[in-house]
Amino acid sequence: MFSMNSSKPSNTQEVSYSKAPLLERAWTYMPEGMHQTVSSEPIIPAIAAKAKVIAAQNPDFIRSDQGQVVGIFPDKEIYYGPTSGMEELRELVGQFWTFAYRLKNKKGIPPQGLNKKNVAIVSGATEGLAIVMHLFAFRQNVGLMPLYWSNYKGIILNAGGNPVVIDLFNKDYNVDFKGAEQIIRENKITSLLINFPNNPSGDVLNDDELASLADLARRMNLIIISDEVYNFIRYKGEPQSMLAFAPERTVVISSASKEYLIPGARVGYIIAAEETFTNSWMPKIIRSFSSSPNVLGQRILLDVLKDEVKDFENGQSPRIISAIKKELKERCALIISILHEKGFKLAGRDRDFPSGAISVLARLPDDIEVDDKAFVEKAMELKKFSAVPASVFGAPRCIRFGYAGMTKETINRLAQNLQDVLNSLRKKS
Ligand SMILES: Cc1ncc(COP(=O)(O)O)c(C=O)c1O
Repeated sequence: MFSMNSSKPSNTQEVSYSKAPLLERAWTYMPEGMHQTVSSEPIIPAIAAKAKVIAAQNPDFIRSDQGQVVGIFPDKEIYYGPTSGMEELRELVGQFWTFAYRLKNKKGIPPQGLNKKNVAIVSGATEGLAIVMHLFAFRQNVGLMPLYWSNYKGIILNAGGNPVVIDLFNKDYNVDFKGAEQIIRENKITSLLINFPNNPSGDVLNDDELASLADLARRMNLIIISDEVYNFIRYKGEPQSMLAFAPERTVVISSASKEYLIPGARVGYIIAAEETFTNSWMPKIIRSFSSSPNVLGQRILLDVLKDEVKDFENGQSPRIISAIKKELKERCALIISILHEKGFKLAGRDRDFPSGAISVLARLPDDIEVDDKAFVEKAMELKKFSAVPASVFGAPRCIRFGYAGMTKETINRLAQNLQDVLNSLRKKS
């Protein structure tokens, strides 16, 4: 039995959560001041919610609780949305996740699958990660799996945590759970931030590996923060969510940015099986991060997800994301054939074709003597192309080529430009 007595501010409720590792751990590690945030009921949203209901039933009811200008530019007015997102969108995200990752009747998940109470909408996965790190990373060591998105370290440091890179894979690219366990123990790591399909490599873990990771997390009492922003963009096998393997200790962070190609809409999700976490704590915390997520972005996604969930209900693949996936797969195949032709090799687990995501990680040809940063600098200096030197992801001498923003015609043009850069570097050496 967990009891939140020790560092309780005077006006917090007495709460006890048995079998709720997420709540227990967040409560234990969050900065002292956040106890107040998650324990008290903010007054303004409560008045606004009540006033909205009264106004709907009483046309003469006067609302002066709202702090926004109305009636001056009626066609431009956009109201604040609910703190943790539109209920209808939260419900659709829960349903999409339930269908896509087969969560119905999974142990530790509500019997009908996830619903709106398991989802909080945030301003992109980036805000979702920042919020969750404030709960689990403060004064803690957080394990990062290589390769890692370059923004992770900053997000963890901003939340007062310390990122520690754990070599999850051995030299044959098999998961080394024993080695990982030792690093976790030695560094007193309390949570893991994982990302599959991975940016930059597209790597995934197979079902056995995910099950072993869940076992490890249980044995070592770890919280798993699972960044699943590319989860449905899979080129091999069925997509999986970490929620299916360790629902009681996993928080999923995802977003519409990559899968629906709308990063500027800033719509992300925090998803957990523990509904107190998403339905009660998150609205209070989001209020002091960004007030509420982007209303226009949510409307765009709402229209998309209505159709996608309908397709799932009819036993079909969701058509919009399936079309996106098909196009991305073709672009991926094209860029890989060009990279192979120019002497690059894929540098992730998959040597032939990535398992998912929207970029390829390619190792520089052996006879290129400069490092990845100098290679990209040269390509830019010659005005041939840009790419990301993958040492920023923990992969030295590799280059990440993101193909989601390139048409097939552009990818075809890359072939000659890549050759020009290689020629220029070879001439010099
Ligand atoms: C692995 C990973 N997580 C999160 C993000 C950020 O996503 P969002 O635009 O939803 O903040 C990115 C963006 O590149 C990413 O690659």
